Amino acid sequence: MDRWGSELPELEGERLCLRMLKRADAPGVLSVFGDPEVIRYWSSPELKDLDEARELIDRIHGLFEKRELFQWGIHSTELDRIVGTCTLQHVDTTHKRAEVGIALGSKSWGHGFGSEALGLLFDFAFNALDLHRLEADVDPNNARSVAMFEKLGFQREGYLRERWHLLGEIQDSVWFGLLKREWRP
Ligand SMILES: CC(C)(COP(=O)(O)OP(=O)(O)OC[C@H]1O[C@@H](n2cnc3c(N)ncnc32)[C@H](O)[C@@H]1OP(=O)(O)O)[C@@H](O)C(=O)NCCC(=O)NCCS
Repeated sequence: MDRWGSELPELEGERLCLRMLKRADAPGVLSVFGDPEVIRYWSSPELKDLDEARELIDRIHGLFEKRELFQWGIHSTELDRIVGTCTLQHVDTTHKRAEVGIALGSKSWGHGFGSEALGLLFDFAFNALDLHRLEADVDPNNARSVAMFEKLGFQREGYLRERWHLLGEIQDSVWFGLLKREWRP
């Protein structure tokens, strides 16, 4: 887990590259986490301005230094800017598992970018980190996310009632799991 120093490895795809966020990416980060449609099912409040976006980027770097969070910026080659982020958290190398998460700005939905970014993330998790199992916690009302995880081969493993208190609502979770042997790139 220490082999990456202070930089996340870059993961190159056809249309996207997963890379370390820089403070200069604040406008892209704000376009994602300042978008009410994106944070509708997200576990933190909407960003208000560029200062809050820079603070988020600093927090992401600090958590990576402690190896508590791997959060890549999703960089679109065509647009040459950050269009989202994807994460591995609760990485447990003893039990070889981690939780995945992803958010794209709503203008980037519906082009298969979510599946492409997660494919890059899964190759890293299953091969470079040698994990055995990936998990995802999804709001059952988040139809796009449920469809994406099912399309990627995740199985529904559990239903957790009233797990989150967000935006004045209590939300349930569907717990998804994917084993290394089930992943078809
Ligand atoms: C969930 C989320 C990441 C899905 O992203 P996405 O890129 O739209 O999802 P997908 O990769 O599954 O692509 C969706 C559609 O793009 C279409 N598509 C268009 N071009 C495509 C291509 N070249 N390759 C693959 N799919 C393509 C597909 O038809 C697919 O729709 P279908 O599954 O109905 O056929 C996105 O909606 C999001 O960021 N939501 C807000 C944050 C959030 O809720 N995150 C999840 C928390 S658990």
